[in-house]
Amino acid sequence: MDPLNDNGHGDAAAEAAARAAALRAEIARHDHAYYVLDAPTLPDAEYDRLFRELQAIEKAHPALRSADSPTQRVGGKPLAQFAAVRHRVPMLSISTETDTEASGAFAFDARVRRALGLKEEDAAVAYAAELKFDGLAISLRYEDGVLVQAATRGDGETGEDVTANVRTVKAIPLRLRGEAPPVLEVRGEIYLRRDDFERLNARQAEAGEKIFVNPRNAAAGSIRQLDPGIAARRPLSFFAYGLGDVAGWALPATHTEVLDALAAFGLPVCEHRAQVRGAAGLAAFHERIGALRETLPFDIDGVVYKVDALDLQQRLGFVTREPRWAVAHKYPAQEAVTLLRDIEVQVGRTGALTPVARLEPVFVGGVTVTNATLHNQDEIDRKDVRIGDWVIVRRAGDVIPEVVAPVLERRSGEPPRFVLLDKFPTCPVCGSHVVRGEDEAVARCTGGLFCPAQRKQALLHFASRRAMDIEGLGDKLVDQLVDAAIVKTPVDLYRLGVLALANLERMGEKSAQNLLMAIEKSRSTTLARFIFALGIRNVGEATARELARHFGNLDALVAADADALQQVPDVGPIVAQCIAEFFAEPHNREVIEQLRAAGVHWAEGEPQGTVAGALAGKTFVLTGTLPTLSRDEAKALIEAQGGKVAGSVSKKTHYVVAGAEAGSKLEKAQALGLAILDEDGLRALLNET
Ligand code: IVH
Repeated sequence: MDPLNDNGHGDAAAEAAARAAALRAEIARHDHAYYVLDAPTLPDAEYDRLFRELQAIEKAHPALRSADSPTQRVGGKPLAQFAAVRHRVPMLSISTETDTEASGAFAFDARVRRALGLKEEDAAVAYAAELKFDGLAISLRYEDGVLVQAATRGDGETGEDVTANVRTVKAIPLRLRGEAPPVLEVRGEIYLRRDDFERLNARQAEAGEKIFVNPRNAAAGSIRQLDPGIAARRPLSFFAYGLGDVAGWALPATHTEVLDALAAFGLPVCEHRAQVRGAAGLAAFHERIGALRETLPFDIDGVVYKVDALDLQQRLGFVTREPRWAVAHKYPAQEAVTLLRDIEVQVGRTGALTPVARLEPVFVGGVTVTNATLHNQDEIDRKDVRIGDWVIVRRAGDVIPEVVAPVLERRSGEPPRFVLLDKFPTCPVCGSHVVRGEDEAVARCTGGLFCPAQRKQALLHFASRRAMDIEGLGDKLVDQLVDAAIVKTPVDLYRLGVLALANLERMGEKSAQNLLMAIEKSRSTTLARFIFALGIRNVGEATARELARHFGNLDALVAADADALQQVPDVGPIVAQCIAEFFAEPHNREVIEQLRAAGVHWAEGEPQGTVAGALAGKTFVLTGTLPTLSRDEAKALIEAQGGKVAGSVSKKTHYVVAGAEAGSKLEKAQALGLAILDEDGLRALLNET
């Protein structure tokens, strides 16, 4: 029966109420499975269907709209301010064990034993050990199982009523499961998972909104939003770790059992907790969690130890506002504040310039940090980091330390913005010009072959099979040659002698001779190979070949401006710019001259412009194994007639030449309805012309 329609018997309202209650219970069950147990039980579409059905019933019967309904998580208007809430049981803080070593655990245990009057021979104290979550403390008040109020800690006596915002946190049940007591105040931590934090910041950046420094600030900022609609869009999480005011409930004997009970009520309780004995048990927990810390999906800044037996807690009591029965045992901080003295750059193997912060030495993440990465200009702009700022530095695990954000309150005056290209118009390693492409985040050194930072990479490319084809000049050898400063530019390769080589590790006279022969052989090459070997950014083998064909000789290419370069098939504005910049760099021209002087040569021709072969303008894709032609042979035949061979099939492909065991390329060609040739078909096409 449709509970939305009165059937004239007067029981429709009762039907609707029953159906709404059933839906609410079912949705709450799925929320619990999804947000608390992290084990989804329903596909999203099915969940949405239940949710919409409940919404429809509540729309038709507004009286059924109860506060614990999942449809009522987000509601209400923005507040003018938060109301004050007086905590019936104060929200205390815990003292911190500053010694981050295992000895911190021993010191706490010793204090507890002394306060309890235990002797050495008395049994070990049982503790509940848990994580110290890095978010903000919150108190949830459930009356008869229904969430009626949520408050921040405030000064511990009085906090702020943030109920509307807290109701939007899906991990927090609006109604407890099972037999709930008349009054149960649950204390815990609202936090943001790291992945949710990253996503939130990305969204904020896109919308031009404030970027949060860390998950804790983002969580705190979200809970203190006056508009619950905004809080609802912040992916907050929650862990329960204790109790406040309780009435009508027989407390269990231990804190461990309290947490078990809270979990049974449907509250999220972190799985990383343990009941341990004595100082050694605490220290082992501290160490185990320390090793786990980086892999947790959320931030913690330590662990918390609590005397497990509630009667012992009572006996231990408080000193000022801190319980004697609990302590936070920290880990070395992953973040610290220090002075940003200067920004320098590091040149990577691909010529990318990475801005590096030079810091006043600071102890963070267990080591002294003096440098931290700033990634690139966009990141510097986004974070608005300036030289002379106090900055937050983060070092988590083995990750490279990074500058998170400036502490704006401590900025004096208005220091100038840092513009990498202004400070480093030329490469600090080789002095070549630094450029940054329009849509690129990274600035690059144009030194290429000349820049020592890029030397190894450039040499390996120069020697590679499809470039100068110097057999035997691999990774290890290049490392040795460059590290020993025997080879600086490719020119040096042509000046190598047996003696210099034979003295290298794992290099006998025989291998040295072989290498020298390979180098000798490479002196005679083609213009296309030589252009490719130069390692100009965005100039691959095919483009190099087009350039060689178009310009015929190297001097014409070197002299070409961006316009002239764009006449070459496949060369657009970006590639043209890369080529022009490369040859504009005096160092690069010098290396080229020296290579020619060292005897590197090729057959030069007249500029041909764009070849007008019979297959000009036609694009081929080769796939599979042809019966007699190798890939390279087929390619050469096609190119000899002005055709082009591309790597992948698209609508722009004219012919696909397929051999045995052709795979997905053939399938795609068939799907696109392209002309497909076998080897005979290709030969026929070539002969026709
Ligand atoms: S127990 C009486 N347990 O740390 C003990 N606090 O100074 C009350 N915190 O801001 C706190 N994780 O929000 C407790 N597992 C945990 C905790 C924890 C984080 C926070 C708490 C408060 C501070 C205590």
